Amino acid sequence: MKDKIQIMKKEALEKLEACNSLKELQDIKVLFLGKKGKTHEIANEIKSLDSSQKKEAGMLLNEFKNYFNELFEKTQKRLEKEELDKKLKEETIDITLPGTKVNVGTTHPLTMIIDEIEELFVSMGYDVVEGPEIESDLYNFEKLNIPKDHPARDMQDSFYITNEMLLRTQTSPVQARVMDANLEKGPIRIICPGKVYRKDDDDMTHSHQFTQIEGLVIDEKISIAHLKGTLEVFAKKIFGENREIRFRPSFFPFTEPSLEVDVSCFKCGGSGCPICKYTGWIEILGAGMVHPNVLRACGYDPEKYSGFAFGMGPERIAMLKYCINDIRHFYTNHIHFLNNFDRIERDDMNESK
Ligand code: PHE
Repeated sequence: MKDKIQIMKKEALEKLEACNSLKELQDIKVLFLGKKGKTHEIANEIKSLDSSQKKEAGMLLNEFKNYFNELFEKTQKRLEKEELDKKLKEETIDITLPGTKVNVGTTHPLTMIIDEIEELFVSMGYDVVEGPEIESDLYNFEKLNIPKDHPARDMQDSFYITNEMLLRTQTSPVQARVMDANLEKGPIRIICPGKVYRKDDDDMTHSHQFTQIEGLVIDEKISIAHLKGTLEVFAKKIFGENREIRFRPSFFPFTEPSLEVDVSCFKCGGSGCPICKYTGWIEILGAGMVHPNVLRACGYDPEKYSGFAFGMGPERIAMLKYCINDIRHFYTNHIHFLNNFDRIERDDMNESK
């Protein structure tokens, strides 16, 4: 019996030393200590020995079990370490490999201009207000002193949805809406950016959809001097410190007097170049003093209140500022075009500041 246990001990040692997986280790344990395992077999044999031999054999068998368990634990630790090492080796990251390039979006040039204009006017105490793009004839035209059959309607060929509803042709209806909604009929200072729509054939300078930013100030004793001062600040901020503006008479049904506003050319400083068509001046927006009929239509007393309004096209401003020659670039959104605006520092664009 002693020899048998000795052989078993040797066999266990060999097997555990050769073992190279945790799964195999479990099998070895079952083989030796399991219910039908080798120690069980020997224990049965011991039962039939006489009592003097029984005691010694029993002790030896227990000794074997302790020996096995100790060895088992050691092997288990060895295998666990081996498995961990293997995993670490397999999963190491090669930090010298080239990375995956992530394409980062850029701000659309139009958004850049609108943000810049909004920021400027907000810093002067204006609120930014938006209005509906599907507008009623009432707000788009009638309240702005453009009754049906008024020839001015031809200036803005419109997309009608029903007889009374259309895609707004300008952001001016927002000024009428804000005046209407102001129940106290008190002062107003707003700018209204948004999309507008006109039945135009698209070409380099025309688009069926574009954006406008409307400005409106209503208060007591507002004069054309306030309008001029405001637009001067605007021109200097957007086109450079040395810019000047000039007013030319114009016509809009909702303003009286109406003005076309030019800014001195930011490329040549006024001496004449292709950008300003050798005039030294570039037309940038329409403006005027709010027509008494509009004030009245929106519940304001023209005897007490006056105001100015202006409307500009951010596309045109972006085209001038960033030398973009085709308005269609803004909506075709080719990635090469948009990538040009990747790292524009706004102030870098104001070349003749
Ligand atoms: N709404 C005018 C246009 O689209 C622009 C404008 C706005 C003119 C406000 C004067 C005052 O042409």
